[in-house]
Amino acid sequence: MPTRKNPVALITGITGQDGSYLAEWLLAKGYAVHGIVRRVAMESPEVRLLRIAHLLPRLQLHAASLESYPSLFRVVSEIRPDECYHLAAQSFVSYSFEDEFSTLNTNINGTHYLLSAIKNAAPDCRFYFAGSSEMFGKARQVPQTELTPFHPRSAYGISKVAGYDLTRNYREAYGLFACAGILFNHESPRRGLEFVTRKISAAVGRICAGRQKNLHLGNLEARRDWGHARDYVQAMWMMLQQTQPDDFVVATGATHSVREFAELAFAAAGLDYRDYVSSDPEFYRPAEVDLLLGDAGKAHRVLGWRMECSFDQLVREMVEHDLQQARAQSRFEAADSAPSIPLYKKAS
Ligand code: GDD
Repeated sequence: MPTRKNPVALITGITGQDGSYLAEWLLAKGYAVHGIVRRVAMESPEVRLLRIAHLLPRLQLHAASLESYPSLFRVVSEIRPDECYHLAAQSFVSYSFEDEFSTLNTNINGTHYLLSAIKNAAPDCRFYFAGSSEMFGKARQVPQTELTPFHPRSAYGISKVAGYDLTRNYREAYGLFACAGILFNHESPRRGLEFVTRKISAAVGRICAGRQKNLHLGNLEARRDWGHARDYVQAMWMMLQQTQPDDFVVATGATHSVREFAELAFAAAGLDYRDYVSSDPEFYRPAEVDLLLGDAGKAHRVLGWRMECSFDQLVREMVEHDLQQARAQSRFEAADSAPSIPLYKKAS
């Protein structure tokens, strides 16, 4: 455990869903929180930093790239973190079928460079690697535990298995305090719009606001173990507070189909999903992961981790957020299109 009064944490992927919740959690615990962000000229900072906009005055951001060992080494040497949370990745499974090469390069080399930078510049830093239930892929056991063999079904899953092995090897070979969380799907209103849960909740919001007519999804029968990201980042932190580094499954222990998620989300807005949702082959994956269900028994026993948000609460929170967002968008556009100067002068 860090002994400094204000321990220093470094987060890669701080602008994402998990990074933003983790930054909030660490700031509340008195950490000095640093984040690594890419220098991307194309994306406007308002959009990229949206999830951490409310935290910006309290964060220290550093420009670096997972593709550049020197840039990671520079940041790690400069700030000498007590804890490093490696969350950044190309994390959209579907995209990894379109471009396997960039997914493998970023996710494997990025993890390797960061581990090596820590080993060379801050060997006492505790390291968290964001593993994934996608590593189980065509799962050989149900439910999946830390001992279930991996059978990834995408370049993304393969890259996460490699990152997991690198993490374990830096622990065993170089004595780094390095842990991997095998996190099952975790969602929230901050989830990216490309992921199925947010695609559904955003569509519900837009349909209710009259901004969208229907929703095309892929495989409605795929089953996932969905929890709330806010609960899951706490498990990441707990792993780094133990006396021994280890790996942990983090999951709810319940599984639901995409169809069930859609049914519940539309019902939360008083709609019947069957009137809006269709299954479109365009969104099917070349190799699907049909069923994921995690057993977080070890995280419960060793870390004392508990989830607070139920599946129903998660769906409702996402839908409520997106209903408000779609209404606000409609109001904004209506106000924007209203003439600011009256078109006709009143007859005096
Ligand atoms: N994205 C998407 N869009 N998925 C769809 C759709 C659709 O229109 N229709 C059905 N699905 C199915 C996918 O085929 C998959 O079986 C399931 O919904 C979930 O897809 P995603 O939400 O894209 O998440 P994921 O399970 O592939 O991966 C997420 O969770 C992993 C943890 O297990 C990502 O967050 C990964 O980065 C993470 O590691």
